[in-house]
Amino acid sequence: MVETANVIAGQTYNYKVIRQFSIMAIIWGVIGMAVGVYIAAELTWPWLNNIFDVPYFTFGRLRPLHTNTVIFAFGGSALIGTSYYVVQRTCHVRLISDKLASFTFWGWQTVIVLAAITLPLGLTTTKEYAELEWPIDILITFVWVAYAIVFFGTIVKRKVSHIYVANWFYGAFIITIAMLHIFNNMAVPVSWWKSYSAYAGVQDAMVQWWYGHNAVGFFLTAGFLGMMYYFVPKQAQRPVYSYRLSIVHFWALIFTYIWAGPHHLHYTALPDWTQSLGMVMSLILLAPSWGGMINGIMTLSGAWEKLRSDPILRFMIVSVSFYGMSTFEGPMMAIKTVNALSHYTDWTIGHVHSGALGWVAMISMGSLYYLIPRLFGRTLYSLKLVEIHFWTATIGVVLYITAMWVSGIMQGLMWRAVNADGTLTYSFVESVQAMHPYYLTRWLGGVFFLAGMLIMAYNIFKTVTSSEVTKVNDAVVAPALAH
Ligand code: HEM
Ligand code: HEM
Repeated sequence: MVETANVIAGQTYNYKVIRQFSIMAIIWGVIGMAVGVYIAAELTWPWLNNIFDVPYFTFGRLRPLHTNTVIFAFGGSALIGTSYYVVQRTCHVRLISDKLASFTFWGWQTVIVLAAITLPLGLTTTKEYAELEWPIDILITFVWVAYAIVFFGTIVKRKVSHIYVANWFYGAFIITIAMLHIFNNMAVPVSWWKSYSAYAGVQDAMVQWWYGHNAVGFFLTAGFLGMMYYFVPKQAQRPVYSYRLSIVHFWALIFTYIWAGPHHLHYTALPDWTQSLGMVMSLILLAPSWGGMINGIMTLSGAWEKLRSDPILRFMIVSVSFYGMSTFEGPMMAIKTVNALSHYTDWTIGHVHSGALGWVAMISMGSLYYLIPRLFGRTLYSLKLVEIHFWTATIGVVLYITAMWVSGIMQGLMWRAVNADGTLTYSFVESVQAMHPYYLTRWLGGVFFLAGMLIMAYNIFKTVTSSEVTKVNDAVVAPALAH
């Protein structure tokens, strides 16, 4: 009976493309985090930069490779894959086009491979998170338009009149990323691999951080909130705590995020009023962010004891807690006087990774642990390994972010310390030397986090290659939810 239901689900819905994206998310996660560990080692032991005596593996070349791989390859594959699952399950229809969905998979993987070749070669626009040169940008545009057609086309032909809130978040992510990508990458090409931005000076900076901050808001946040709104209730087998709150959360979040970009440009040539506006909107952003966090965590009310026995749920709830933490820290760092201390320091790097590791990576891991057994019709190979992964990942994040808090605040204080005669107390090199123990700790945190990811890869490999047919099925496991 269970097996039959699973076969029917597999035939009704397009699971193939979701399987492809999910597996690639794990593979890219391993690669992107391994590069992260390597660049963390380069900061700890700078001689590693010259070890091969070629420029391709230096920190400057590998850093954008790390950010692109973890955000767009790992995060992007997890987002597109889960969105295809959620939209089909909640709309009760198959994706509108299998061919177009397959194009989004192969197109996105091609983009990533091109990024992995061009970035180490030093081919870059130099705009952070938008480093890829114009031919790749055009390919991204095609893939993204195809993705939008598949996602929204599926919503249009839905059999359920209601559009579940997770789809609203995924939808906002798709539309906003299209807009940001097109406007920020407007450029004049001068050769195949060189272009100049269409904007100049402070306008260029403003457009770049309008993009950069909303890449955080819509790529690293809205899409993953879509994941949270579907997979947390499913795994907890509880309805969303407050559906009304989820709607308020949605509109308040997308309205506020779009204004906050200037907090990346405090004390620059950007007009002062613009910086202050960015600061105020960032402070307001705390409210919708915490509304969402509370909604996610409170979904467990009445089922808290499940946290004791279910490591997958623990991944999800800890990730939502990190979301709350980083969205408290962000508004504080957006206050100009605080930013005067934190900007350019490792504090920012710590903030980034409490969001990136704690929130983005852990909600993806939890969702993929839920999803993959269902997609492949197999029981998860080992829950014990999920438990071990949970602890290695948590220890990894904590080591990473505490090291960066200490080193960041120390850096900021050392740079601003002055003697009675007005000269600087510390030279820059002294501040670099003082960072060493914290860089070592961060590297260790990274090793823990990567080890957890490798454990996950092994667990999933054993799961999908197992010959035993599943006892896990959506229809049976989570009937409590209407969507
Ligand atoms: C209410 C929400 C948030 C606010 C107001 C906020 C605010 C900030 C501020 C003020 C900075 C430092 C800018 C600077 O001094 O250069 C920053 C940096 C950053 N934040 Fe957040 N943050 C929020 C949430 C998040 C989350 C959830 C993530 C990740 C998932 C994240 C990722 C980043 C990244 C990647 C940067 C570094 C950008 C760069 O300079 O490359 N933020 N954020
Ligand atoms: C094993 C895990 C990871 C390690 C060891 C690691 C390490 C690093 C290091 C060393 C940097 C450069 C810091 C600097 O320039 O001082 C960095 C930057 C960055 N990483 Fe990671 N990372 C990891 C995972 C991730 C994940 C999963 C994401 C996103 C989902 C991520 C997003 C970023 C971003 C956005 C930056 C740029 C921050 C900025 O410019 O402010 N990292 N990472």
